[in-house]
Amino acid sequence: MNQNSLWKLLSGLGLAFGVPWVLMIVVPYNREALAQPVEYAEGEEVAGNFAQYPSSVAATVGASDFGAEIYVREGCVYCHTQMVRPTYAGPDMWHEGWGGRQGQMRETRPQDYHGESVAMLGYQRIGQDLSNVGSRMDREALHRILSNPKSVSSVNMMPAYRNLYVKNGDEWEPTSDAEALVDYLLSRKKDQPLPAELK
Ligand code: HEC
Repeated sequence: MNQNSLWKLLSGLGLAFGVPWVLMIVVPYNREALAQPVEYAEGEEVAGNFAQYPSSVAATVGASDFGAEIYVREGCVYCHTQMVRPTYAGPDMWHEGWGGRQGQMRETRPQDYHGESVAMLGYQRIGQDLSNVGSRMDREALHRILSNPKSVSSVNMMPAYRNLYVKNGDEWEPTSDAEALVDYLLSRKKDQPLPAELK
């Protein structure tokens, strides 16, 4: 190969991989990662007293990083996503409760992961999307499905996480790991209202 064709090959490869890399990774990363929080305009109704969006408070209320670690360790992320897709990409918003609390349902925005060390997007849905599970289930219901999924529905394919519970008579009592995991799940609320200028 002479030097001229080597140069052509290298610049061809550079263009073929470099341009998509810049457009699909560098540009979106910078746009999202460097986005500044937006203050709510005066008079905008915001439940929960948030002064700005994204609010790191939304991501961390009641959540422990330890709970997130258990979520990863136990493999929840293999069967559950945490991303309500825009309607052009799928029917997520048609599933009741996936988009959040009644009256403030919406699709997930990249900034909703603000304050989380890892965004648990997940990649397949054997079970429901959990972006807003903290808005539709309470502590008791979460312990019930984790300790005994079949008690929720007989066709439930979710594995029972008995390793996180201790049997006491007929009851499954949560260990501190189970409580931390449930704290984390209860904090999954990605439905903070958007300031008007971001809608
Ligand atoms: C093998 C796949 C699988 C794994 C792993 C898994 N789940 Fe599930 N999960 C499911 C399925 C399937 C359902 C739906 C059950 C039904 O409604 O019948 C479900 C339902 C749920 C629900 C109820 C959601 C709702 O909206 O009703 C919660 C909460 C949940 N899972 C949390 C977890 C957590 C936390 C973990 C990790 C400790 C986990 N899951 C691991 C498959 C899985």
